[in-house]
Amino acid sequence: MGPLRFISSILRILAGRPQVPPSLKDNQLLNVIMRRRSVRRFADCEIPDDVFAAILEAGRLAPSTVNLQTWTFATFKAETWRNAFNRPIPFKGKRAVIVMGDTHRGGIVLDVFPYSPLVEYTIAVMNASLAAMNMNLAAEALGVSSVMLSETGRSGFLDAEYLKQTLQLPDGVIPLMTIVFGYPRGAYPPMPPKLPLQQICFEDKYREAERTVMESWLSQMVAGYKASYPLSSFDAQLQLYKSKISQAEANLKNMIFYDGEAP
Ligand SMILES: Cc1cc2nc3c(=O)[nH]c(=O)nc-3n(C[C@H](O)[C@H](O)[C@H](O)COP(=O)(O)O)c2cc1C
Repeated sequence: MGPLRFISSILRILAGRPQVPPSLKDNQLLNVIMRRRSVRRFADCEIPDDVFAAILEAGRLAPSTVNLQTWTFATFKAETWRNAFNRPIPFKGKRAVIVMGDTHRGGIVLDVFPYSPLVEYTIAVMNASLAAMNMNLAAEALGVSSVMLSETGRSGFLDAEYLKQTLQLPDGVIPLMTIVFGYPRGAYPPMPPKLPLQQICFEDKYREAERTVMESWLSQMVAGYKASYPLSSFDAQLQLYKSKISQAEANLKNMIFYDGEAP
């Protein structure tokens, strides 16, 4: 990429920075949403029980398809996490919630739908993710930071089978992510490159994103990763995911199609 194109693509990526109309700049919820970052450095400071209870309550009250509430939360303090997984909460967080998609609970009283594992799985993932985001934003509003994880060494959906055994999950309960909570240590990380609205919206027909913008996004991701983790690299992180994904794919197939033949 030539220097001019590089500069113009950086400018377009910068257009992805938060943009709130001046008339709304004092809106508290918008400010919480704009301020939120995935935080991976936590202070040695406990989260009070009432604050954690409010975070869980925000998850409980999330919207869901037909109000099915297809989620289950496994909740941990530092010591209960250690007891379960024989290691500390990632990033020395003080509390953690493993969010699961749960199509099992509703089946206790409602068994009217035809066998439709993909639809059930998709609904469970959608709803549980909304509950997760509610918790994440409630935490942020209360001054508690968080990060969602699919890879924690032993506790995201990439370790679904291990979690199924460890937490004794019945069929129809699928781990999706771990949310780690804590008070932040040090400054918030800078915002990673977010694509501008023009690249992700369309009004009539699907519009391809511009290649130069996507290239700029990728190069900023690589540079940002290097700045945050000088001893590692974005590529090394991708390789780590790659090494786990085939196993996770097989495990998830068994968990999603537990009642019938996996395709
Ligand atoms: C479902 C989900 C899974 C994630 N898994 C991981 C993870 O395994 N490890 C990690 O360091 N960050 C993880 N993240 C955090 C993302 O890296 C982060 O959201 C993204 O870089 C954007 O940064 P921001 O949250 O500060 O806007 C995950 C986020 C989501 C929503």
